[in-house]
Amino acid sequence: MKVIPGPASRKLGLRLAELLGAEAVPITCKHFPDGESYVRLDGSVEGETVVIVQSTYPPQDKHLLELCLMADTAKDLGAERVVAVVPYLAYARQDKRFLSGEAVSIRTVGKLLRAAGVDKLITIDIHSDEALKALGIEAVSLSAVPLLARYLAEEKGLGGAFALAPDRGALERAEQASKILGGGFGWLHKERSRITGEVRVEEKALDISGRTVIIFDDIISTGGTIVAATEVLKKQGAARVYAACTHPLLVNDALKRILASGCDGVVGTDSVPSSVSVVPVAGLLARELRDEL
Ligand code: R5P
Repeated sequence: MKVIPGPASRKLGLRLAELLGAEAVPITCKHFPDGESYVRLDGSVEGETVVIVQSTYPPQDKHLLELCLMADTAKDLGAERVVAVVPYLAYARQDKRFLSGEAVSIRTVGKLLRAAGVDKLITIDIHSDEALKALGIEAVSLSAVPLLARYLAEEKGLGGAFALAPDRGALERAEQASKILGGGFGWLHKERSRITGEVRVEEKALDISGRTVIIFDDIISTGGTIVAATEVLKKQGAARVYAACTHPLLVNDALKRILASGCDGVVGTDSVPSSVSVVPVAGLLARELRDEL
């Protein structure tokens, strides 16, 4: 097995190679003055299982295309099998046609990856099971929730906190976290306008008065979900509110808005680089990849 650390996940790719005891293939990536991407593999991949590590956080389209260029080139140069490790998989939230005429974007992404030679995809906390199926390729989604919960309990002393899902879809994550935190779990009802993107969270009776609550979500993008949930939780008497997410995209001033809403802290994994990416995922990925060795 050889590992290609893609330009979006170089540090993570090198760490993964180290944990697997696999050779990291040097790679040159650059962009031409007009914005086109250029990729060159500077080592042999012939006859190998090649693991390409490339997260697809913003700019998503550039990172996706780089992934396709790396996979296609590896196959063209004789790689036997290509496993794409995409810690954050973009476009997974568009996993169905919500409004007539819309693209089912994650299905198109799956077709692109398959056409580029990807045989298997490993990701972390994909938005939904529907998205995983819609990819149309062999794909696995690992959960980083236990890592986040353990970090919060052991490093932040938040054992016993109530684990909260900001919507019904994230309930399984809150339940998983509560097995480690031990303070119970629940969910809120959230609605997002398909037109404006505005988020509304309804008030709901929860046993959180005077308690610490941790909101568990797969992605924090604009921060709208966490801001709305924090406001509801504070209104209901929560003493402290934290947010934990696998993919801290935190676009524009999301972190500032979240903290200004009364949230006491945000924690994320390094699937996406950010100022809150404190929980490493290399070990989780290495355990999954050992079967490929
Ligand atoms: C949506 O269902 C996801 O699970 C997240 O709740 C959402 O992507 C977060 O986005 P934002 O931070 O923009 O509210």
